[in-house]
Amino acid sequence: MAPVRNSRVLFNSIPEGTRASRRCCNKIIGYPVLGETLLVDHAKTIDLDTVSLEGGKVLVKTVAISIDPFLRLHMSRSGRHHGTAYHLGETIYNFQVVKVLRSGRDLFKPGQHLYGVGDFVEYQVLSDPSKWTALPEEQSIPWSVYLGAAGMPGKTAYFGWKVGANAKKGETIYVSTAAGAVGSMVVQLAKAAGLKVIASAGQEAKLEFLRELGADVVFNYKTTDLANVLEEHGPLDICWDHVGGDTLATVISNMKDFGRILVMGFTAAYNAPPASVTNLGLVLVKRLTLRGIAVGDHEAQYAEEFYATVPAKLAKGELKYKETVVRSLDEVPQLFIDVQKGNNTGKAVVVLDD
Ligand SMILES: NC(=O)c1ccc[n+]([C@@H]2O[C@H](COP(=O)([O-])OP(=O)(O)OC[C@H]3O[C@@H](n4cnc5c(N)ncnc54)[C@H](OP(=O)(O)O)[C@@H]3O)[C@@H](O)[C@H]2O)c1
Repeated sequence: MAPVRNSRVLFNSIPEGTRASRRCCNKIIGYPVLGETLLVDHAKTIDLDTVSLEGGKVLVKTVAISIDPFLRLHMSRSGRHHGTAYHLGETIYNFQVVKVLRSGRDLFKPGQHLYGVGDFVEYQVLSDPSKWTALPEEQSIPWSVYLGAAGMPGKTAYFGWKVGANAKKGETIYVSTAAGAVGSMVVQLAKAAGLKVIASAGQEAKLEFLRELGADVVFNYKTTDLANVLEEHGPLDICWDHVGGDTLATVISNMKDFGRILVMGFTAAYNAPPASVTNLGLVLVKRLTLRGIAVGDHEAQYAEEFYATVPAKLAKGELKYKETVVRSLDEVPQLFIDVQKGNNTGKAVVVLDD
């Protein structure tokens, strides 16, 4: 067979924001820009029949790629996120599902689907396939769901709930970014545990999804003041926060004594100057627990239990999820911006092969 096109997405420039934002916080920060930050390159080709698999390599076709909010942290000039900053001019990477086309290793068979971190390309040769996890051969949920509710974001909710929530029936929780991949799972875990759930999102359609999930109090944080909502429906035993900044400060003021705040993300500071939290003294006054949780820390303890239960519940509809799907690498730069600006609902994914 003749070589085929092998498109890829390149990191082209660091989003540097406006002069005003740079002056304000002495940090280079701003939203990614369409046509500048990421570029799609169609110039490369690959010969799927002859590309070398010497040394136990595996040739795969990309099935689906996750677009996560934290990828913005890979794009900063100075803030190297866990040492994994994207390099200018090179292909970007993230969690994905791939299908084996040819294999130089007995363990991996053509047709098998694998989950791991790979490049934003149509085809790639995995030099270390042992870093990838084989997905179940019998498909009960779309492969893309292994990037969302049955993947890293779902695990973030599941593991975080296990290690940090310490929830008791009848308690009150607030979940920010609640219609997202992580938040929508947390809302369902909290309802199943018998909690009163206050949930926010930034668009009307997302609020409808939160009502479907059974959240008790639902509001648009862009049009309704968080402090007023918490004054009326709080105080809180637990806050599951993805946002940071002003949201975190308002939450701290509305916690009960001995409440738990789980710091899961800081989206408000991914593209804009970080806001100061000036009421940390209340953490002492109220004897609060403020805990950061990183999904990877709990993989060894809970991943097996997660995969044994969550995909089956998703397949039966006992757990619900939403996805925002695009079907070409050409749409990646726009979807990347949409996730940063809140124009996605649920898990944002690029599906290249169903
Ligand atoms: N700790 C961990 O190990 C871990 C693992 C995975 C994810 N995370 C973090 O968890 C959070 C949610 O992740 P996800 O995958 O579920 O993402 P997601 O829902 O796709 O996140 C994007 C959403 O964030 C909201 N948002 C964007 N800018 C915002 C702002 N300035 N203020 C408030 N909300 C804003 C938007 O929804 P609205 O309509 O609600 O504004 C947007 O749709 C992210 O902060 C992510 O980095 C942490």
